[in-house]
Amino acid sequence: MIFKSHKLLTEHLKKKVKSSETIGFVPTMGALHQGHISLMKAAISQCDQLVVSIFVNPTQFDNKKDLEKYPRTINNDIKLIQKFITTDQLTIYAPEVKDVYGKQTVAKTYRYDGLEHVMEGANRPGHFNGVGTILEFLFKVIDPDQAFFGEKDFQQLQIVKKLVAQQKWHIKIIGCPIEREPHGLAMSSRNERLSPEARKKAQFIYTSLKLAKIYFQQHSIKKTQKLVEALFKKEPGFELEYFTIASEETLKPVVRKYKKHHYRGFIVAYLEGVRLIDNIAL
Ligand code: PAF
Repeated sequence: MIFKSHKLLTEHLKKKVKSSETIGFVPTMGALHQGHISLMKAAISQCDQLVVSIFVNPTQFDNKKDLEKYPRTINNDIKLIQKFITTDQLTIYAPEVKDVYGKQTVAKTYRYDGLEHVMEGANRPGHFNGVGTILEFLFKVIDPDQAFFGEKDFQQLQIVKKLVAQQKWHIKIIGCPIEREPHGLAMSSRNERLSPEARKKAQFIYTSLKLAKIYFQQHSIKKTQKLVEALFKKEPGFELEYFTIASEETLKPVVRKYKKHHYRGFIVAYLEGVRLIDNIAL
């Protein structure tokens, strides 16, 4: 069933889901692709019921144009979900902005122990306040046992884990591997905005991450960073916003390698004016 009202959604879930059953939740902003479907498949393999939300959350966009251009394909989204998930296990929540925010579309302020100050937090002011606000609302009205997030937005995943721990909510946050297009581009709703040539060319982002991973085994952080920057300088059409090597846990950029620490390379680059994001475990 599909709901536009959170009140009706909560009532429906209270009736539909037995106390012995578990709810898996996949929050999305629509324009669904196989990456989202893989999250839904993971959720339904681990839980009895699946709730999917489809909502382009205005408060997490720091750029008005980006919000306007964000693809909205609700009818196709619903068809795609129903192709993979049986309807008796599925509930969809696809509200209008008013149902979520009421009269004032504003975000609350959150502190995530510093995780919010780096990378996406530094480059997109207010973004993680918007993410926190919508997830607090959705978790409240859905009351899931588990919620599933893609590792493409690795910083978001760590921030959601932090939020849930800080608030002592009983929700297990599950990170799922990045799904990629055949050439290696990380799947994203934004890929729709690329021309077919650019979509193929964008594989360069993942290629450079894989090269960085190999290079990192033998070289310093600084040298690996320089390598990626040099690769992007030579590649026409791309504008590198950042390539950062950071600790997986704190997300703080690192300057020296230590044994037994887990590092990740995080990248954001523009192609045809589209902001593309990816990361790799180093
Ligand atoms: O990752 C996303 O698509 C969004 O940030 C989320 C988690 C659905 C919140 O709007």
